[in-house]
Amino acid sequence: MITYLEEARQFQLDTPNASYVLTIADEGYLLHTYWGKRIAPQDMTDLLRLGEPPFVPSQNERERASFMDCAPFEYPCCGIGDYREAAFCIETETGANACDLRYVSHRIYNGKYHPRGMPHTWGNGCESLDILMRDAPTGIEVTLHYTVFLGIDAVIRSVSIENCGDADMTLRRVLSASVDMDDDRFEMLSLYGSWARERQAERLPMRHGKQRLDSSRGESSHQYSPFFALVRPETTEQQGEAYGFTLIWSGDFMAQAELTQFCQTRAQIGMQSDYFAYCLSTESEFDAPEAVLVYSAEGIGGMSRSFHKLFSDHLIRSDYRYIERPVLINNWEATYFNFDLDKLKTIADEAAALGIELYVLDDGWFGKRDSDNCSLGDWTPDECKLPGGLKPLTDYIIGKGMQFGLWFEPEMVSPDSNLYRAHPDYAVGIAGRLQTQSRAQYVLDYTRRDVRDAVWEQIKAILDAVPVSYIKWDMNRQLTEVPYAGFSHAYMLGVYQMLERLVTEYPDILLESCSGGGGRFDAGMLYYSPQIWASDNTDARDRLRIQYGASLFMPPSAIGSHISICPNHATGRVTPFETRANTAMFGTFGYELDVTQLTDSEKSQISEQIAQWHSISRLIRDGGLWRLGNPFRLSGYAAQQNADYDAWIFVAEDQSEAVFTYVQITAEANMKSRRILLAGLDREADYAYTLCGEEDIKSGAYLMQCGVMIPNLWGDMQSIQFVLQAV
Ligand code: DGJ
Repeated sequence: MITYLEEARQFQLDTPNASYVLTIADEGYLLHTYWGKRIAPQDMTDLLRLGEPPFVPSQNERERASFMDCAPFEYPCCGIGDYREAAFCIETETGANACDLRYVSHRIYNGKYHPRGMPHTWGNGCESLDILMRDAPTGIEVTLHYTVFLGIDAVIRSVSIENCGDADMTLRRVLSASVDMDDDRFEMLSLYGSWARERQAERLPMRHGKQRLDSSRGESSHQYSPFFALVRPETTEQQGEAYGFTLIWSGDFMAQAELTQFCQTRAQIGMQSDYFAYCLSTESEFDAPEAVLVYSAEGIGGMSRSFHKLFSDHLIRSDYRYIERPVLINNWEATYFNFDLDKLKTIADEAAALGIELYVLDDGWFGKRDSDNCSLGDWTPDECKLPGGLKPLTDYIIGKGMQFGLWFEPEMVSPDSNLYRAHPDYAVGIAGRLQTQSRAQYVLDYTRRDVRDAVWEQIKAILDAVPVSYIKWDMNRQLTEVPYAGFSHAYMLGVYQMLERLVTEYPDILLESCSGGGGRFDAGMLYYSPQIWASDNTDARDRLRIQYGASLFMPPSAIGSHISICPNHATGRVTPFETRANTAMFGTFGYELDVTQLTDSEKSQISEQIAQWHSISRLIRDGGLWRLGNPFRLSGYAAQQNADYDAWIFVAEDQSEAVFTYVQITAEANMKSRRILLAGLDREADYAYTLCGEEDIKSGAYLMQCGVMIPNLWGDMQSIQFVLQAV
């Protein structure tokens, strides 16, 4: 998968459909040479235009600066004439930033490097290239790591730094990947949002200058995702080139594309550096998180499927990545803080009778927590709500044949809590400065081991006392008053250590991470938790958008998605129960409502929905996703797509089975049926399916080229779902 052409001094990383090429140029500069459709290894140095002005390196010392400002550097530094955005920036004891990395040596090997203390891709069937670079005056050494996994169109990059000089220095920026693309014919596809409106897709043409997404909130955030794609203007869901970038990291980040004076595009992703500093003493080392780079010639959908495959096979650690997950019911939207043992038992009675398999007790079970004003940090059951603790409840739930799950918010402390009263210094803050509250809480200083231990002991006591099969790990505020530059980075590593402890000591627990909905919906968390609560907005209409956006880079099996009641608590919108189910089946599928309040007709649908879910969940977890609609009204080319419906199909890897879902977002009078072309099927196979009560058999070619006719449905948010079986 990785070759080195001795004469051309060129590295080539090949994946099934793509090639990524680097060249060691004169003086040891490492230059990005090609990334695109797969091509046989050959000398590509002409692509670097090294003989053309202003690309005149050592032959022409006079114009060295103009060479530096346009050469396609694989890992650009600052202070030596490249005025574009740097990927790497140091500060010496005298405050100098200049750094000039040159090639020293390389190694190609089976297996891969794992950045220390943070999530990373793993597994067999991979090959790696490590390139050692050195800045001679400071002695700083940088190793660029590249990995490709067999059968997956992705390149994984990360960076390690070692201070081999004789003076301490400060790292100001260590991005994980930078790619200098040779042209400007790109649009940038990215995700923005807010609480309850996460992952809204936006696609805009590149303009000269820098387009940046970032977070300095201490988490990857609701506002921007550590993901973007550069796509050609003509690229659609199924055709054309798409270059995707994401980061296996859950804290502050930056993702940027810069269109330069020579109409080249520099794409970068890594840890946010505006508030970052890391003191690298002599002989010490530092690792940056892994970035994942995907090239697809099969449109945006092909890009997404490569991310999904890589993350399912080589990132998620939990055994749940391949095994059936239980259908859960969560009491949050059913009761909020207002419950007692009897109320919880009535929900359990009904849920068990309907076939629900896992009962999750959300916020409000501990301390004196009748509202969000208190008790975070005091992880002992509230005796008023739960006399005798959790055991009577868990006995009851287990007795009903369900598993039990529990909510924690381990990174937080309420000012009104025993933990805070005993240890006010555990909360993040700056001496002499007001500590900002958010949701009436402070963030615990997870950079400190004693703080983590204080929480861990309490969580462990619960896990050892009652049978907990599932944990929802929540995080409901962002960082403020961070005590020093680089704190956010150390905080994230502390959170990862705590998660590592949890998944190592309790490997059978199904972990769902959450951050006020989807505030930490990123590949970093996926390493620990195979599913992530995508949003506090459970409205089916809004979920179409949130889930579409999330699926651009994260596998649908990770998207925490539940049916809740109507009018929806976030939007007041009323949608059919069936459509709420069909939409929630794009993710992990569960219920978040008071089952005792449902109508008989809704209750009767629940057993059918659970049966349907179990028959298709393998397709959603292990199959490929083809998005067939677009729930956004986007500018440019995407605006031409009909935004009044959404549709998607999950297809088994062997193409023997598929499940198709269609949602008519708004009804229109006097419309013909809508023809939807399916995708991902075997052209040669015949598929049996039932559409609106009519059985049919059609070839894959017919279904993909001629499509299926979906009747104009009566009412907004009506939906249709059917399975296709190869016969
Ligand atoms: C935010 C989460 O996203 C909700 O699902 C719920 O768990 C609340 N926190 C509880 O406080």
